[in-house]
Amino acid sequence: MTDTDTARTPHPPRVFSGIQPTNRLQLGNYLGAVKRFVEMQNAGVETIYCIVDLHAITVWQEPEELRRATRELAAGYIASGLDPARSILFNQSQSPAHAQLGWIFNCVARMGWLSRMTQFKDKAGRNREAASVGLFAYPNLMAADILACHATHVPVGEDQKQHLELTRDIAVKFNTDYGVDFFPVPEPVIEGAATRVMSLRDGTRKMSKSDPSDMSRINLTDDADTIARKIRKAKTDPEPLPSDTAGLEGRAEARNLVNICAALGDRSPAEVLAEFGGRPFSAFKPMLADLAIARLSPITAEMTRLMGDVAEIDRILGEGAEKARAIAQPILEQTYDIVGMIRSG
Ligand code: TYM
Repeated sequence: MTDTDTARTPHPPRVFSGIQPTNRLQLGNYLGAVKRFVEMQNAGVETIYCIVDLHAITVWQEPEELRRATRELAAGYIASGLDPARSILFNQSQSPAHAQLGWIFNCVARMGWLSRMTQFKDKAGRNREAASVGLFAYPNLMAADILACHATHVPVGEDQKQHLELTRDIAVKFNTDYGVDFFPVPEPVIEGAATRVMSLRDGTRKMSKSDPSDMSRINLTDDADTIARKIRKAKTDPEPLPSDTAGLEGRAEARNLVNICAALGDRSPAEVLAEFGGRPFSAFKPMLADLAIARLSPITAEMTRLMGDVAEIDRILGEGAEKARAIAQPILEQTYDIVGMIRSG
């Protein structure tokens, strides 16, 4: 976040982001999102982090599994270093203004804009007619999450860039249509070595919670042996590591492992290569496995401990929701006033 970013908007800096409680948290979510959430919290900015349960049901979720995954994600947030006393942590459905503002944005965004969303095309697949209306309108609800909090900065992985651009378009169109300067035009924060962590089996595909192969990803619930095995079996090429980042060109798997190593070790890919350039993967992988285990195992252990007391997790989410409502409800009411809704009493 730079001074010029904040200078562009009259709104005070406020960070918002969210993750869907679907399947398990994987390394891509951790390095691309959660780790960055923690860094922004620790930088002292106001931070709001959501578990987007309403987004999750745009594709079918078993109710009990949704509840479990929502709590597990909350546990993952806290175990990774998010502190409910310093960041607002809540699940989306407990702050109804998000869904309500989402409706207003359904009436602002254009069909053509949403039709261009690559994530919808990927998720809906060939049978678009069978996709839920919610899956199509998904980015409008995401815009509502961000703008209901008047957030100015949104840390996300690269795959969310297009959705963030749509959010900016919605903010600008709303402000222009109604002749107001009400919604900030939020900045995506897509920074660091791990904005796009790739599959361990195929360096051209994104690491994803929904990939059918569990060997393609490291889950935050994996034990040390599993992490070590997945890294040992990760696809590579026969060449030794290059000594600079230019040498990673055309070597998707090598680049991915170097990026993961850099992000886990809080250094740049160039620094990793300065140390490991010329060495074979048989020397690099054991070091990477040890690093991943050292970084992830304490988080996994803390998640397991927190999941032993779901009442406490629910309490934390309830408290966060109260704070989230206190921010979003007045913004929704002002939006209704701008749009011309009557509010009696
Ligand atoms: P979701 O749940 O798919 O992913 C959560 C976050 O993890 C990042 N991410 C990755 N980063 C790097 N490499 C990867 N392989 C990788 N896989 C996932 C995503 O970019 C994201 O930051 N639409 C959002 C959730 C959302 C949201 C919001 C985000 C709803 N409302 C408001 C920001 C602000 C999503 O589906 O993320």
